[in-house]
Amino acid sequence: MKILSIESSCDETAAAVVEDGRTVLSDIVASQVEEHKLYGGVVPEIASRRHCEAISQVVDSALKESDCSLDDIDAIAVTACPGLIGALLVGVNFAKGLAFSANKPLIPVHHLRSHIAANYVCHPDLKPPFLALVVSGGHTSFLKVNDYTDFEILGATRDDAAGEALDKAARAMGLPYPGGLHMDREAVGGNAKAYSFPNPKVDGSVFDCSFSGLKTSVVNLLHNASQKGESIDIKDLSASYLNAVVHCLIQRMDLAIESTNINTVVLAGGVSANSVLRKEMEDLCKRKNVKLYYPALHLCGDNAAMVGSQAFYEFNAGHIADMKLNAKATCDIDNIAVILPSEAVEF
Ligand code: KG4
Ligand code: ZN
Repeated sequence: MKILSIESSCDETAAAVVEDGRTVLSDIVASQVEEHKLYGGVVPEIASRRHCEAISQVVDSALKESDCSLDDIDAIAVTACPGLIGALLVGVNFAKGLAFSANKPLIPVHHLRSHIAANYVCHPDLKPPFLALVVSGGHTSFLKVNDYTDFEILGATRDDAAGEALDKAARAMGLPYPGGLHMDREAVGGNAKAYSFPNPKVDGSVFDCSFSGLKTSVVNLLHNASQKGESIDIKDLSASYLNAVVHCLIQRMDLAIESTNINTVVLAGGVSANSVLRKEMEDLCKRKNVKLYYPALHLCGDNAAMVGSQAFYEFNAGHIADMKLNAKATCDIDNIAVILPSEAVEF
C-alpha cells in the first residue's frame, strides 16, 4: 500500500510517499528555520503563510521523487493534531482537497504517534510492545506502546517540554534558534559539573516531570552573573544544563523499565537527536539489558516519512477520516477518537 503523506504541524512543510509503513519512496522537507531564526523562535502566523506557499510544490516533488503519479497512490495521510493550529490547517485542507478530488481514503495522523513511527522506517525489526520517550519542542511523554495504535501514557511534563526548556535556556544564553541543537553543539567539550541545577520533583505520577524550574534557574544564573559583572562559560553552562535535563529523563525511563519489565526502549521527537540523551540512554539500556532504538538524525525532526509510516497502521485499524476532518491544536496520544468521524468510513 502506497501512502502520500503530508506534515505541516510546525515550521517544516513536508511530503513523502511510504510503502507498507516501512519503505520510504520519497521524503521532501522544506524548512522555514532560517526565517524563524530572525525572531528567536517559530512565529505561527509566518509558519502558516510559508506552508501555504510551499505545500503544492513539496507534494509534487514527493510524487516525482517516488516515481509515482496520484493514480499509484492508495491513500492520503496528514498530520491533524497536535500542533500550531494555523499551520496544521494548511496541511489538513490540502490533504482533504487531494483525497476528495482523487477519491482516495484520508488518514489523519497524530503528530507524536508519527514521531515514534520514524523508528519503524529506520528499524525494520522494531515492533510493539515497547516503552517510548517522546521528546520534542512541544511535548515530553513517557509511554507504553502496546500496539501500533494502542498507547498508554505513563507520565509527562507538567509544564515546559524538554525541547522548549532547551530552546528557552539557549535563547537566554544568546544561542540561535533552534536552541536545543545549538546547545548540543556548544556542550561538546564543556564541563557538565561546572554549574549545578535543581532536580525538580512533582507530585502525582512518578513518571511526571517539570522543566520550567530548570529554565528559570538558568535565566537567574545568567542575570546574577551579568549584574555582578561575572563571565559565564557558555560551553560549561550548556553541558551542565543539558546534563540536568537529560538526568530528569533518564531517571524516569529507568523507573519505567523497572516497573514494566518491557525490554525495548524507543526514543522519538526532535530532542532524540541530542548526543547527550542518546549516550546516557545507551548507557542506561546497556545496564538494564534493554534494546534501544532511535531514529536516524534526519528523521528525528518533523518530516512526512514518519507520517506515512504511522498512517499505514492507522489505516489497518480503520482510522479513516471523512470530509469533516478538522485540525486540533491539542490532543492526547491515546485519544485520537476526537479527530475521527463518529461512524466508520468505508473504502
Ligand atoms: O520534533 P520537533 O522537530 O518539533 C516538534 O514537534 O516540536 O522538535 C523540535 C525540538 C526543538 O526544541 C529543538 O531545539 C530540538 O527539537 N532539537 C534538539 C536537537 N535538535 C533539535 N534538542 C537537543 N539536541 C539536538 N541535537
Ligand atoms: Zn515534531
